[in-house]
Amino acid sequence: MTKIFAIETSCDETAAAVVQDGRLVLSNVVSSQIELHQQYGGVFPEMASRQHILSVTPVIRQALENASVDWDDLDAIAVINGPGLAGSLLVGVNAAKGLALATGLPLVGVNHVEAHVYANWLLPPGEDEATFTPPSFPLVCLVVSGGHTDLILMREHDDYQLLGRTIDDAAGEAFDKVARLLGLGYPGGPIIERVAQEGNPTAFSLPRALRIGTYEFSFSGLKTAVLRLVQDLQREQGIEVQIHGTKLADATPENMAALPLADIAASFQAAVVDALVEKTALAAEEFHVAQVIMAGGVAANKLLRAEMSRRVGVPVRYPPIRFCTDNAAMVGAAGYYRFLGGRRSSLALDVIPNLRLV
Ligand code: KG4
Ligand code: ZN
Repeated sequence: MTKIFAIETSCDETAAAVVQDGRLVLSNVVSSQIELHQQYGGVFPEMASRQHILSVTPVIRQALENASVDWDDLDAIAVINGPGLAGSLLVGVNAAKGLALATGLPLVGVNHVEAHVYANWLLPPGEDEATFTPPSFPLVCLVVSGGHTDLILMREHDDYQLLGRTIDDAAGEAFDKVARLLGLGYPGGPIIERVAQEGNPTAFSLPRALRIGTYEFSFSGLKTAVLRLVQDLQREQGIEVQIHGTKLADATPENMAALPLADIAASFQAAVVDALVEKTALAAEEFHVAQVIMAGGVAANKLLRAEMSRRVGVPVRYPPIRFCTDNAAMVGAAGYYRFLGGRRSSLALDVIPNLRLV
């Protein structure tokens, strides 16, 4: 049995976990900073790193305690060293290096995108370990988060081929920007999903930007289309709105409440999901994969899950919601496979804010 201690501080969650054999989650502690950043409408990097400094030690202690393990029971320390916010990554990487030095345990640097992918290897809570089957290769993985929209072909562990990615905004970023534009708050994904439940997804026709013949995505045109739609709807109601950059100058709660927010949210969500599913289904067909897997915060979206399962011709799997958004259990899974493959990082491990997987 191999037990990995995992740390993740790449953005606005301080997280630590203990994972056995890359699949069994013995503990998974996540301290979210969402409330802290909500007042700014997005992640405020300096505040994030300061909060990580305050939270990292208690979160690490809690992860050890919840798993009922001591440092002697562990085999390695895995930590995210990129991509992410430099000041945030530094806190986790320095904590991991300090622990590796003090305990003598090997250190394994893990890529944040790869960690999201490996959330699919974790045993979902409540599922029986004996009947759990890990994902089968070859597979296509759609990584959709606040910072990434990558379509990746995986033929084996540690074998990634990038098929396409977004040429502008990430899918989660589009959710966050549109929610902000509609005055709905942060983070946008879960809020838009909730508001859209009451809406008609065909109420407004919004662009799909399918970029025919490529596996690339583009969401900035969709965001602008929502902006124009809101502006037109408000004008119809006699509200004069001005645009400052991508923001509406007059996004007061009263002005926003007059809009058909549920229909706009539902139409926007349908457009994002459509583009993501269309490309993934094409890739699954072209590369004759055994499975499609999804990863990252946007993979928590219920419409995306349902549409992907409906339109892709092979089995589709995705992690439970708590393993989709940032957490350290996924780092324990990815770290386990890197550790098995002999990968070790030295104490010179540095943060790489724009680290690429492929
Ligand atoms: O993976 P994640 O927690 O952090 C990054 O690595 O970026 O993803 C966060 C992103 C945010 O943009 C958030 O709005 C989006 O995932 N998200 C969702 C949902 N839950 C989180 N987007 C759509 N539907 C959701 N239910
Ligand atoms: Zn993430």
